[in-house]
Amino acid sequence: MCGIVGYIGDKQAQSILLNCLKRLEYRGYDSCGIAVGGSSVGVYKDAVRVETLGQASPRFNGTVGVGHTRWATHGAPTQVNAHPHLDCTGNIAVVHNGVITNFEQLKRQLTGEGHNFVSETDTEVIPHLIEKYYDGSLEKAVDAALRDLEGSYAIIVLMGGRPELIIARKDSPLIVGVGDRGNFIASDVPAILAYTGRVIYLEDGDIGVITQKNIKISRDGKRVDREEHKILWSVEDAQKAGYEHFMLKEIHEQPRVIRNTLGEYTRVVDLAAGSSLIGEAGMESMLMLASGTSYNAALVGKYIIEELLSIPVMVELSSEFDYYKRILARSVTIAITQSGETADTLKAMKKAQEAGCRVVAVTNVVGSTASRIANQTIYTRAGPEISVAATKSFVAQLMVLYWLAMTYPKADARRSAALFTELRQMPSKVQQVLDNENAIMGHAEYLSKYDNVFFIGRGINFPVALEGALKLKEISYIHAEGLAGGEMKHHTLAVLSQRTPVIALLAKDDTYGAMLTNIKEIKARGAPVIALAGDGEEAIEELADFVINVPRVDAVFSPVVNIVALQLLAYYTAKKRGCPIDFPRNLAKSVTVE
Ligand code: AGP
Repeated sequence: MCGIVGYIGDKQAQSILLNCLKRLEYRGYDSCGIAVGGSSVGVYKDAVRVETLGQASPRFNGTVGVGHTRWATHGAPTQVNAHPHLDCTGNIAVVHNGVITNFEQLKRQLTGEGHNFVSETDTEVIPHLIEKYYDGSLEKAVDAALRDLEGSYAIIVLMGGRPELIIARKDSPLIVGVGDRGNFIASDVPAILAYTGRVIYLEDGDIGVITQKNIKISRDGKRVDREEHKILWSVEDAQKAGYEHFMLKEIHEQPRVIRNTLGEYTRVVDLAAGSSLIGEAGMESMLMLASGTSYNAALVGKYIIEELLSIPVMVELSSEFDYYKRILARSVTIAITQSGETADTLKAMKKAQEAGCRVVAVTNVVGSTASRIANQTIYTRAGPEISVAATKSFVAQLMVLYWLAMTYPKADARRSAALFTELRQMPSKVQQVLDNENAIMGHAEYLSKYDNVFFIGRGINFPVALEGALKLKEISYIHAEGLAGGEMKHHTLAVLSQRTPVIALLAKDDTYGAMLTNIKEIKARGAPVIALAGDGEEAIEELADFVINVPRVDAVFSPVVNIVALQLLAYYTAKKRGCPIDFPRNLAKSVTVE
């Protein structure tokens, strides 16, 4: 997600803004910029790193300014799309974090009123609206402009010749850092912690007028008092928002990621385009390409799409696809890649296109190589994922696959409508899993003593077993293997013992009975069983050694709640074993080599 900063005080603003932006780099970004106010506004922005911005930007004289790191949502990462964005006069500069969902309509309206736009962004409508409403009070003009906006925003507004910053937030975080000789504004604490630990958190609907000596916050035209908090984190801690590791922070972000992803698609044409592409007449089959965790998401997608659309889906490892000699040219190909830079997947995408396939990329990084190779791109909007272990991006990928299957032109309308209702409950269902964290911590303590662990699932939970094993292996270095429950009797029973616990994933679908049988055969070999099951499953309580309860959901959504429990299980097991969780040995966040 984007990061915004502001400063107004008795010091030169430029170096302070650059330092604050540097502290926001962990959020991930693809372009950045600053604007410094004096009698006029000096702006410098580009698709560069903050360090380069500092070296390349002219010296601006002024003690008030704004800065921005952009995680592109609308429009590629380019100089013209970078923030700050300006009005026609170039005297109003705005930095923004969020998504303005009615920007196209506003852009058309403002263009009709004589405003000229230069970027592809949603943000650019904001300074033009402020210019339209400005009649001497910047605060009032911002208030009027905000009333036209739909969507989410955290903004800071600067106007040449005015010793004040106007700030506002709705559904995007914004804080004020209270200084002795000036005040700071930022998306979150790490940006300003080097300058002050005194922080005021704005609330949705707040508008603030910030000067060197004064902080005035109002809401619906009335002055409000917001409590000042003392932040005790180190800067590095703050980047994790108080979590010990980025992985745990990102696991806990999943309710919001699901809301953002689903919310985004109700308004943004991505998916409609995606669905229309997927729904192209004559599509006989679907091919999915991916690696690692994204491959496991694709496998879940296979079960979702085959169940809801009765379309045959082939899922291939990107790295293996290179050796395939025959490719179904009539299939639509979906390439799933969080980073959008995985060399194996990029190569597989090109090979599929050469064979005549149209390729849809599902990726988390706007402007990534995958998004530029693909015929169509659907973004997962999970925000930057810092930890090497993929967690929130996996769930966001599932949301895209659910959405594609449920919005596909030939989808069963009645079943899709029912599933849509439940899909919107997923954020709270996932939150229930997160609320059970302490119980899962206890199971992790038990699991951390073992060196070989198996995960089994059937049907739509077979890929979840694969992913649970991948997560545990990746960060705890325990040898973990995922397999289909039906495969146990063909080989793995040979190695079971009391030293090989088995994690069994149950869902109340047509696999339930067979999974109960699996548990009995595993117990008969003396291996401990930790079962993941919906609340209140007495049969399981009697059979398994331990039960991790997850909220009851329609079986098609069971991967969502099950995987969050397994992510927590892996995290706390690795933590118990003292592993460097965010950056596991020998692994990279983006595998850009074959
Ligand atoms: C998953 O936790 C790993 N980081 C790894 O398996 C990853 O999923 C794989 O390298 C694919 O990455 P991508 O989604 O960026 O293509």
